[in-house]
Amino acid sequence: MLELDDIQSGVLRPRPSPYEAVYVLFRIDDGKAGRELMRRMHRVVASAAHPESPEGDTWVSVALSFQGLKALGVPQASLDSFPPEFQHGMAARARVLGDTGDSSPEHWEKPLGSADVHVVLTGLAPDRERLDVALARARQEYERISGITAIWKQHCHALPTETEAFGFRDGISHPAVEGSGIAGSNPHELPLKPGEFVLGYPDEMGVVAAIPQPEVLGRNGSYVAFRKLHQRVAAFRQYVKANSSGPEDEELVAAKIMGRWRSGAPLAVCPMHDDAELGADRGRNNAFLFKEDDPIGYHTPCGSHIRRANPRDADIAGVVRIHRMIRRGTSYGPLLPDGVLEDDGAERGLMFAFVGANLGRQFEFVQSEWMNDGSFFGGGATKDPVTGAISEADTYSFPRRPLPVRLQGLSRFVVTRGGEYCFLPGLRALQWLGELES
Ligand code: HEM
Repeated sequence: MLELDDIQSGVLRPRPSPYEAVYVLFRIDDGKAGRELMRRMHRVVASAAHPESPEGDTWVSVALSFQGLKALGVPQASLDSFPPEFQHGMAARARVLGDTGDSSPEHWEKPLGSADVHVVLTGLAPDRERLDVALARARQEYERISGITAIWKQHCHALPTETEAFGFRDGISHPAVEGSGIAGSNPHELPLKPGEFVLGYPDEMGVVAAIPQPEVLGRNGSYVAFRKLHQRVAAFRQYVKANSSGPEDEELVAAKIMGRWRSGAPLAVCPMHDDAELGADRGRNNAFLFKEDDPIGYHTPCGSHIRRANPRDADIAGVVRIHRMIRRGTSYGPLLPDGVLEDDGAERGLMFAFVGANLGRQFEFVQSEWMNDGSFFGGGATKDPVTGAISEADTYSFPRRPLPVRLQGLSRFVVTRGGEYCFLPGLRALQWLGELES
C-alpha cells in the first residue's frame, strides 16, 4: 500500500478545475535558517491522504534542488546517493533536452538555471482568495526566518476549460497509479505501478529501485522537473493559417499537430470534426488506444504531440509504460485574443511540471527520444511540432488520403525560459531535513 499520509499532495492528487497557482523560489543563505524553513513547511504541506476531500483542493508543496539539499547541510554520502541528472540540474542538461538557441540557459530568465534556486514552494487553490489564504499561512512561516530569501515568483492559472495558450484543452490525460485510490483518465490503460512515481515501491520492471539515502529521506519522495515554457502563439496561428486552405482546414491542421481538437476531443474518436461535448466529457475524452484502430496514424498522426508524448499501445521501439509521467501544467500570462495574428509582445505560456520517480528514464527520455526525435515510430529525425527543438529546416508530415501532407518551414513555437530539477520529499523526510545537525 502507498503511504499516502507521507506523500505530498501535489504528487498524486488531481487538481481542482479551475484553479490558481503560484511558484515561489527561495535561496537559502544560511543552512540553519533553511532547516527551520523545512520544519515550518512540514506543518503546512498537505499529504495525499483523503484524495477526494474538498478541503484538500488547496495545498502547498515544497521541493528542493540539489543545490538546496547542499545548502541545508545534507551529508555528502546522502547527496551522492541522488541520481546524476538531478545532481547536475536542468541547465547542465540543456543539450540532452534540446534547450539550444533562444532556449539555451544563457538566455533563461534569472535566477532560473542558477545555483541560487534552492527551494520551490508551490501553492494551489480553486480560486485566488483561497490561494492567498494558503500563501499567507506559508508566508507567516517563512517571513520570520532571516537567512531565507524569496528570489522569484510566478503566478499561473487553469481556466474552467483548461485552455492553454495555443487554444487547446489541457490537463486531460493522466495515468492511474496503483494503490493511490485515484482513477486514471484512460479506462484502457492498466494502472501503473506506484514505483514509477513514488520512491520506495515496486516499478513496472518489478523492482524497487535504489532510492536516495538514508531511507527516511528517499522513501515516499518523487522528482519534479518544472519548466517555464513561453508559447509563441501568434507564430503558431500564422503557421497553421499559412498551411491550410481555409478556416475549417485550419482547425484540422491544428488538430493534426496536437492529436486533439481544440475542445480536447481526440482525433482518435472523432477524426473529421471537433465535438465540444466529447472534448469536455472526462468519461470519453481519453478512452482510446492506437494499435488496432489507427496503426498508421491516419487519424492521430504518429508525430503529433499527444501520440509522441504517449504512444499508448502503438507499435514503437521500446516499452511505453516505463516512460509515463504525471503532468502538472499550468498556464501563465494573458491569452492572445481570438483571431489576433500579430505578436503583442506579452509573456505567456505553460509552467510545465513533470512528476515521476526517474528523471532520466521518464522526463529526459520523452523529451529527447520522443519529442526531439522520431526514430522510435519510424519517423526519422523529426521533432514534435508543438514543443520540439524545431529549426526552419524541420518539416511535419502526416498521412492523409489521397496524398500525405508535408508541412514545410516549421518554427520553434515553444521557447524554454528556464527550469529546474527538484526532489519532492515525503513529509517525514521534510521533518528529517529540518532536524539535520549542522
Ligand atoms: C508549451 C508546451 C506544451 C503544450 C502547449 C502542451 C499541450 C498539450 C495538450 C493540449 C495536450 C492534450 C491534453 C491532455 O491530454 O492533457 C498535451 C498532452 C500531453 N503532453 Fe503536452 N504540452 C506541452 C509540453 C509538453 C512537454 C514538454 C511534455 C513532456 C516532455 C509534454 C507531455 C505531454 C503528455 C505526456 C501528454 C499526454 C499525452 C496522452 O496521454 O495522450 N507536453 N499537451
